[in-house]
Amino acid sequence: MDAPRNDRDAWWMPFTANRAAKRDPRLIASAEGMHYRTPDGRTLLDGISGLWCCNAGHNREPIVAAIQAQAAQLDYAPPFQFGHEGAFALAARIAALAPGDLDHVFFCNSGSEAVDTALKIALAYRHATGEGGRTRFVGRERGYHGVGFGGISVGGLAGNRKVFGHGLSGVDHLPHTYDRKRQAFSKGEPDWGGHLADELERIVALHDASTLCAVIVEPMAGSTGVLPPPKGYLQTLRNICDRHGILLIFDEVITGFGRLGFAFAAERYGVTPDMICFAKGVTAGAVPLGGVIVREGIHAALMTGPERAIELFHGYTYSGHPLACAAGLAALDLYRDEGLFARARTLEPVFADAVMSLRGEPNVLDIRTLGLAAGIDLAPRPDAPGARGYDAMVEAFHRHDLVVRVSGDTLTLCPALIVSEDQIGELVEKTRAVIRAVA
Ligand SMILES: Cc1ncc(COP(=O)(O)O)c(C=O)c1O
Repeated sequence: MDAPRNDRDAWWMPFTANRAAKRDPRLIASAEGMHYRTPDGRTLLDGISGLWCCNAGHNREPIVAAIQAQAAQLDYAPPFQFGHEGAFALAARIAALAPGDLDHVFFCNSGSEAVDTALKIALAYRHATGEGGRTRFVGRERGYHGVGFGGISVGGLAGNRKVFGHGLSGVDHLPHTYDRKRQAFSKGEPDWGGHLADELERIVALHDASTLCAVIVEPMAGSTGVLPPPKGYLQTLRNICDRHGILLIFDEVITGFGRLGFAFAAERYGVTPDMICFAKGVTAGAVPLGGVIVREGIHAALMTGPERAIELFHGYTYSGHPLACAAGLAALDLYRDEGLFARARTLEPVFADAVMSLRGEPNVLDIRTLGLAAGIDLAPRPDAPGARGYDAMVEAFHRHDLVVRVSGDTLTLCPALIVSEDQIGELVEKTRAVIRAVA
């Protein structure tokens, strides 16, 4: 067999410009707290919590110790028909954090699997309750719900959809909630745009409620570049769903576990969905884990039939993996013991003011902030959309010792919840230098 052309050739990197990345790799060797170290010994400030996941900071000792101890005790237990205490314990802890009667937790390994799981539970629920005709889903333009066929179907990012065929049939989309002319440089939830939730009534009128299964939205659209929900928007969606018997699913893969200063955005907004998808922050990024939190009524409707019959034909080999559950329990302890969700709430205005100071820097068209998240839109270079953003990411890594994320020409900042006020200042000044460097 021919040897690979070079030692970087074999790994086909996800969501990456592979050829450019392999020519000039951005390698990370180790991590601690707010920082990464490169193989050549540079220290980088992590401005994006890994990938929106390391909410407690990197390599936290209690999480590392819990994973090590678990690996030595029980590497694996099959979740189909068997179990282990860690999965039961973590499910109970997560259910206790969720609002209302969101009492049951189905585990998977990622946000994408969480979304597809939630869509399948919604369909199974309709089938079980004699409403099998309700098969349509409603997502939203600019939404990101991972990369499974369900997720890209309800998602609203054209780049993630256009080459992958038709996806699920019978999916419709709400309009996105962003209008720069009316919202530019808003801190927190914009005043304008709450009325866009009423578009759901138009979709109901078009398809008829009897065909509609569920609506799925990110409470704050994250991956598209941080679009906070307009004031009142989520409550209006809830009201319309209630009026027509439609399930409401919040995809909290990013907003869960403290990003918006609460365990879930559902709590921040006082809006209780029928299901919550989670992943990322549940283990502070240390081991892959995702899941869906389900309301009592949906779960109960499926707990029928002969007691020895499987109620839901769905699951993953690694649902509730022992290492992931150990990491999850340790992460939840850390969030609680260090009061990290409340800390994010306290830091929100400090972070917002600091990031807004970038207004007026070259090419900055808009800045949005919510919780410990910010999106900074840069003007695209003429005829080269995304090029300025890409250059900013590369410049940040190689010359400013900073890791930021870009989607197109939008820079995203979402530091870990342990970030200090000084580090917020450092993050913003590094970002300022990067923005000037790509002017
Ligand atoms: C809202 C949302 N849903 C789903 C996903 C997919 O998660 P994963 O990459 O773990 O599959 C993401 C990832 O960023 C996300 O932000």
